[in-house]
Amino acid sequence: MQKLWGGRFTKSTDSFTDHFHSSIGFDSRMYHEDITGSMAHAAMLGKQGIIPQADADLIVKTLGEILADIEAGKVTFDEKAEDIHMNMETILISRIGDVGKKLHTGRSRNDQVALDTRMYTKKEITEIKALVKELMEELNALAEQHTQTIMPGYTHLQRAQPVTLAHHLLAYMEMFKRDYDRLCDTYRRTNVLPLGSGALATTTYPLDRYFVAEQLGFDAVSANSMDGVSDRDFCVELISDLSMLMMHLSRFCEEIILWSSHEFRFIELDDAYSTGSSIMPQKKNPDMAELIRGKTGRVYGHLMGMLTTMKGLPLAYNKDMQEDKEGLFDAIDTVKMCLPVFTKMIATMTVRKENMLQATKGGFTNATDAADWLVKQGVPFRDAHSTIGHLVLYCIEHNTNLDDLSLEEYQAISPVFNESVYDAISVKQCVEARNVIGGPSKAMTTRAIEDNKAYLAKL
Ligand code: ARG
Repeated sequence: MQKLWGGRFTKSTDSFTDHFHSSIGFDSRMYHEDITGSMAHAAMLGKQGIIPQADADLIVKTLGEILADIEAGKVTFDEKAEDIHMNMETILISRIGDVGKKLHTGRSRNDQVALDTRMYTKKEITEIKALVKELMEELNALAEQHTQTIMPGYTHLQRAQPVTLAHHLLAYMEMFKRDYDRLCDTYRRTNVLPLGSGALATTTYPLDRYFVAEQLGFDAVSANSMDGVSDRDFCVELISDLSMLMMHLSRFCEEIILWSSHEFRFIELDDAYSTGSSIMPQKKNPDMAELIRGKTGRVYGHLMGMLTTMKGLPLAYNKDMQEDKEGLFDAIDTVKMCLPVFTKMIATMTVRKENMLQATKGGFTNATDAADWLVKQGVPFRDAHSTIGHLVLYCIEHNTNLDDLSLEEYQAISPVFNESVYDAISVKQCVEARNVIGGPSKAMTTRAIEDNKAYLAKL
């Protein structure tokens, strides 16, 4: 097969080389973007009188037919035609001959691939945003059911202070809100048209780049052609956004794995989101959560891969940049698989409220409140801290907890104690008294849930 760029060559490429540098195996997924990009380019060439309008019309019409044929599964791509761009042009020429050869006027594959990748990335960002939104809706709804489900809050994975499941879930809600916001931000910077940059230095034809931008739904045109063809910041940014999103999912999965263990027994995953063991009949494993945690690593890997590919590249286009796609695509695919599984997994889990409450009562999570009660009686905080520390030690030695000590036992340590301490250190009171903005009290979490509803309604 004669290459479209074969004019200055006297020998054909080695067949293994063809296989080595071909990208059609993975960039064929951008066929839709390639075709719509070419349609807009051809329409512009016709409008500007760069090629005859009738030729432009025929190109646009034929590209539409090729698109329909691809979608009907009637087109096979050829590795020898390298990539999606050359494949498409080859097919076009095979259908309309010399007119098809005019499509590439005033354009290079360098600005074409930058265009296709941006268009593809924009589409995927929109889809991922919708999945993050669904997750946030589920999370907020779940939080609403658990504003009074008391559980231990942890630091160092040691029981620290009482919170509620709603409060815990709302912490993740904040992370996903930031993730969503980052995706919007990346979209904004991706939404810049590179077409018209040519190979690197634009072209001598009177292109109308604004017309193409308008046709393809871009907000702006790139301001420098060398940057236009060689900028892959948007790929790095998206994979970075996705890495952060996966980090959040992974932390949540880690907790789900812990919570579903027999040691915690805070939740039980639905059978549909668990798996058994091939040997141990009793097992119910949180495999989905583990896989999401595991897949986080590959997304991080793509981020490092992309940054490293770009770091030494002189301006402008270099073939190294063909390596941008597989990592980008895999990061996108991975996140798009993980998000719906995660959302359904949390939507279907059973919460063991009683175990959460017992764990809260058992771990001295009200010790800070006992110290604060003393402070409110006029004891300096450091002394109060020390007094309660001694009481905790006493409880550990006597295998009991602060709620179950008698008033005599309290008063043996400090005469300041009276009956009202019991109320102050009940876990419910510990939660409700934390009524500061951002806190776990029912009033505060309800307010956050309402704010989130308003936020979600506007997305
Ligand atoms: N397949 C190439 C890529 O993904 C398209 C651009 C090739 N341009 C070139 N001059 N070799 O980057």
